[in-house]
Amino acid sequence: MSASFEVASHIKNYRVSIGDDLLTDCASGVDDHIFLCDQFFTSHLAGGGRRLISIAATEQAKSLDQMSDVIIRLREAGATRKTVLIAVGGGVIQDIATFCASIYMRGIPWLYLPSTLLGMVDSCIGGKSAINVGPYKNIVGNYYPPEAVLIDSAMVQSLGVEQKVAGLCEAAKICYARGNESFERYLALDPAVDINGLKLATLIELSLLAKKWFVETDEFDQNERLLLNFGHTFGHAIEGATGFRISHGVAVGVGMLAALYHARMVYGSDQLAHRAIVLEQHIRFLLTRMPELPGILAATDPDSLFDRFVADKKHTISAYTIIGLTQDGSLQLDRLPRGAQSDATIRRIFTAIVQPIFLSAAPSRDL
Ligand SMILES: NC(=O)c1ccc[n+]([C@@H]2O[C@H](COP(=O)([O-])OP(=O)(O)OC[C@H]3O[C@@H](n4cnc5c(N)ncnc54)[C@H](O)[C@@H]3O)[C@@H](O)[C@H]2O)c1
Repeated sequence: MSASFEVASHIKNYRVSIGDDLLTDCASGVDDHIFLCDQFFTSHLAGGGRRLISIAATEQAKSLDQMSDVIIRLREAGATRKTVLIAVGGGVIQDIATFCASIYMRGIPWLYLPSTLLGMVDSCIGGKSAINVGPYKNIVGNYYPPEAVLIDSAMVQSLGVEQKVAGLCEAAKICYARGNESFERYLALDPAVDINGLKLATLIELSLLAKKWFVETDEFDQNERLLLNFGHTFGHAIEGATGFRISHGVAVGVGMLAALYHARMVYGSDQLAHRAIVLEQHIRFLLTRMPELPGILAATDPDSLFDRFVADKKHTISAYTIIGLTQDGSLQLDRLPRGAQSDATIRRIFTAIVQPIFLSAAPSRDL
């Protein structure tokens, strides 16, 4: 399959292409380029006189401290203002490439080949970077879209199960956020970790076209695009409190279940809209492919979850901010006034999700 579409941006429009053998061909026609790649691709890209900066994709690697090292390596590799940075990797490499390309010599062009399913279905468009500072995840960043995004879905095949689950959780979230039709088309593709071939390429295109609407409607996260944070406030707390033992997309999947649990608390356990229940069942189905997950959550300190939730950058001085659900299953921005009542609500949600039964049982407010 090959597909191509443009994403309109206030900064610069860019083209997304989904096709075959793009890793092999991505540098053709780009005379002056340097690869910034995930270590996984070092042996594939090394040689042939290629200039290559290879990085192990860890949360530490995308810390602000590490950015000066990447800048130095760019300079030592001879990058000029005209050099095109070609980034190959998942969300970690993307964040580093976006940030460093935006500041190196006040900005150089870059191309992006996402190599994780999460990168392909979600993060590759939208132009954001998110860099860690000390213990604070994704606390600094900017917008700096690439010249083009090239997606070769065959690169998914070498990913582990967790990375596939992570990507599918994010794709489910985006399609659900976009509305009924998008979510039904997503489900009709039977999304599961063994998805491949045409169905996989179609799922990537569907998810990106859904995200394109949010990015073009609200590029700078003021209104509609905020809905894509569904699952993220809980998810970032889970990711951090588990010591990053689970990947971002999986944490967002559990975070969505936490938000759905909150909706059951608000509206009544049996009052959730049908499509919200379908989403809940689908995320549970995806997470069952990670048998180690209930044990990891059970070993997580609820106080640490709560503290990380409170420290999230999306809150205001007076309220916690989460993306919740309306009674008809649409997503909405919820502000929970800071205070004892909201604290008790959040603690109760975290107490529920660390129970091994949470991921397998039909949810109840009494859990
Ligand atoms: N800026 C954004 O818009 C945005 C959006 C979502 C997530 N993120 C960030 O992205 C990061 C998570 O990224 P991710 O989940 O894509 O993964 P990742 O970049 O952390 O990589 C995960 C693992 O997969 C390996 N890997 C990558 N591609 C592979 C392939 N094709 N085959 C085999 N192994 C491969 C990597 O070496 C690494 O071990 C988080 O830091 C998150 O905050 C950023």
